[in-house]
Amino acid sequence: MEFKDHLKSSVDIVSVVGEYVRLQKAGSQAYKGLCPFHNEKTPSFNVHVTKQFFKCFSCGAGGDVFEFVMKIEGISFYEALKSLAEKNGIPMPKRSIVADEDSKLREAVFHMHELAQESFRASLKEPVGEAARAYLVRRGVASETVEQFGLGYSDRSGRTFLRLFEQHRFTAAQIEESGLVRKRDDGTFYDYFRNRLMFPIHNESGKIVGFGGRALSADDNPKYLNSPETPIYKKSRLLYNLHRAKEAIRKEDQAILVEGYMDAIGVTAAGFRGVVASCGTSLTTDQVKALKRFSPRIVVNFDPDAAGARAAETSIALLLEEDMQVRIMELDGGLDPDEYCKERGAEAYQERLHVAKGYFYWLADRARKKYDMHTSEGVVAMLKFLMPAVQRVSDKLERMAIANDLAGYIGVERGLVLDSFRKAISERQESTFQRPKIEIRPDERVLLNAVLSGDEISGEIVRELRSIDTVERFTSRRIFHAVFAIEAAGEPLSFDQVNARLEEADRHLLAEAVLREDVQFSREEVLAAIESMRRSETQNQRVQLKTRIKESERGGRWEEALRLTSELQQLERAGRERR
Ligand code: GTP
Ligand code: MN
Repeated sequence: MEFKDHLKSSVDIVSVVGEYVRLQKAGSQAYKGLCPFHNEKTPSFNVHVTKQFFKCFSCGAGGDVFEFVMKIEGISFYEALKSLAEKNGIPMPKRSIVADEDSKLREAVFHMHELAQESFRASLKEPVGEAARAYLVRRGVASETVEQFGLGYSDRSGRTFLRLFEQHRFTAAQIEESGLVRKRDDGTFYDYFRNRLMFPIHNESGKIVGFGGRALSADDNPKYLNSPETPIYKKSRLLYNLHRAKEAIRKEDQAILVEGYMDAIGVTAAGFRGVVASCGTSLTTDQVKALKRFSPRIVVNFDPDAAGARAAETSIALLLEEDMQVRIMELDGGLDPDEYCKERGAEAYQERLHVAKGYFYWLADRARKKYDMHTSEGVVAMLKFLMPAVQRVSDKLERMAIANDLAGYIGVERGLVLDSFRKAISERQESTFQRPKIEIRPDERVLLNAVLSGDEISGEIVRELRSIDTVERFTSRRIFHAVFAIEAAGEPLSFDQVNARLEEADRHLLAEAVLREDVQFSREEVLAAIESMRRSETQNQRVQLKTRIKESERGGRWEEALRLTSELQQLERAGRERR
């Protein structure tokens, strides 16, 4: 068995996909969820348990466990193999699978990050880490928290990594791409992070892809230095702490979004595990999509300053665009989330979380402070301010309901708000698209499922089907051709084998046929399906023969007419005998 087949048979696609998507059982053989590859509100994303494949009937994405991991992580086939093998503790044969150049480079950069992390953590414990340890104590970070978040210290020397990476025989080109060192004009390297408290940044599967380094004194600028983009680190895709938070986000059906690393750490340490931060950049669509896979509900908890409020405003727009349900959490006393948890305690934070307002009320409150609601100019300015948010709500009825609520909340005449929103409300284009549906007849579905059932009966069915011309009129005929070809080659019939021989459109059909049926068919049912096909085939042949007989009679070809008539009689006799 090839390694990839061995690996595939040892992992379960349901649990792999389940790491990224909220799945719900839908019948005995399938799970359903919101598709992670496009924006949707009703689930059309399916995972089949026994056939081990996924399929979205809305955007068409589909494939096996490797294709899922490749697509969702944006990685190569080799990397998907490696990642699944590692996670499942299955050793990967060194030479049998060849990595492409990009994968090799990323592998090297991952390795350098592991080495860097060991080095940072060691330095924090050594004498050189004294000041960093003191800083952590001053900020009230417990030693368990330091361990949990893998915090470390980058020393002042500036020469640690080059030596370390050269010892491990990485090439100069690989070292340069790591983002952990920088090149001087004379071509020599020095460490990118020096004398900083180090926060490792993990990707969703828990591998370190970059670092944030905080200055230890106020006069060291910038306050935070973050890894540059590298072959393994794409800032716009990554959320700090997501790999730890995702389980809690899924369970509690809610994520908390904060601004800073220290906030994510402080809030987690206070017992709120579903918290993530963007890494010093403004929120992106990709980040929202990643969150949405675990829950559509989010509480935005930014710093209580003007910059924090502005960032929250921008984030709201983006979150709404992805149909997230947004609440805004406000903290009093000018404290940021980390400080709040430490000074006021977890219960107080829980209370603030509990009373967090729907984003619209928060926006309206902000507008009320900005504009004078006693003047008509003020009201108009406020409506203008709220308009973009209304426009981003994708559901028309919901937009109407919001306009209604809002009128009540700000005390403006309902008609005025509705009027001013009406345009915005009707302008938005509804972008629901559906693939054209191609139907497979019920008897085709029964036969396909029986053929792929792996039961003894499948060989028998295949032999029967070969002799029936009706198969040529099936929507699924190309799938059956693949089945016949596999059988003829003496290979075992399996979903994967068949699927591998199909074009995209037929893969779609096959997925549908397999996912639609949730029952096992009995031998009788399958034989009945074949029999009814044979009957309709006989019927068809009879009609054809009769036409030909008439034609030959009309043309005076009596001998031919006689021969065809006896054929017809034979056919009818055979039909009666079968019954
Ligand atoms: P503390 O000041 O230690 O409490 O940090 P914080 O995590 O609360 O960060 P803060 O609220 O000041 O900033 C939010 C996030 O923005 C940080 O976690 C960093 O990711 C990022 N950030 C802050 N300052 C800088 C900076 O000077 N440069 C860069 N590149 N990013 C920064
Ligand atoms: Mn802070």
